[in-house]
Amino acid sequence: MRIACAAVVLSGSLAGMAFAGVVELKATREGSPVKGTVRLEAVEEGLKITAQVEGVPPGRHGFHIHENGSCADEGKAAGGHFNPDNVPHGFPVKDGVSHAHAGDMGNLEAGRDGRGALEITLPHLSFAPGRYGVVGRAVILHEKEDDFSQPTGNAGGRIGCGVISAD
Ligand code: CU
Ligand code: ZN
Repeated sequence: MRIACAAVVLSGSLAGMAFAGVVELKATREGSPVKGTVRLEAVEEGLKITAQVEGVPPGRHGFHIHENGSCADEGKAAGGHFNPDNVPHGFPVKDGVSHAHAGDMGNLEAGRDGRGALEITLPHLSFAPGRYGVVGRAVILHEKEDDFSQPTGNAGGRIGCGVISAD
């Protein structure tokens, strides 16, 4: 992914300017057909995420930003959900940022053709370094549905992963 003008983000002149990047989502296991793209765009409220996947088993799949920018070990190296405020798991769009991990995106639903899409705006998150910065973290697509139970929604293994990198 390429983030244009990251230095300008740091200077604080974000308003009205488009900053965007695309993360390539890849299967975590050899031979798996899972793939997709996750577009991230800086908007006033936070980061707008637009995801498209294919090769995914039909149904709902937990979808989150995880803490570490690594997809090694079948995605386990990405660590836990990105949770800079040390709050419970949830859905920030509905529950508010004080009742959900900053990286919680709920579920992405795939149809019978294995394709799915999701658009969501995550409050707070940013390309800029710091508490809510997403560069150097990973997007994870799970095997199972996020049921919003604690601590992480019981979504099982990690079938898709992409690192959010600055270059
Ligand atoms: Cu996850
Ligand atoms: Zn979470």
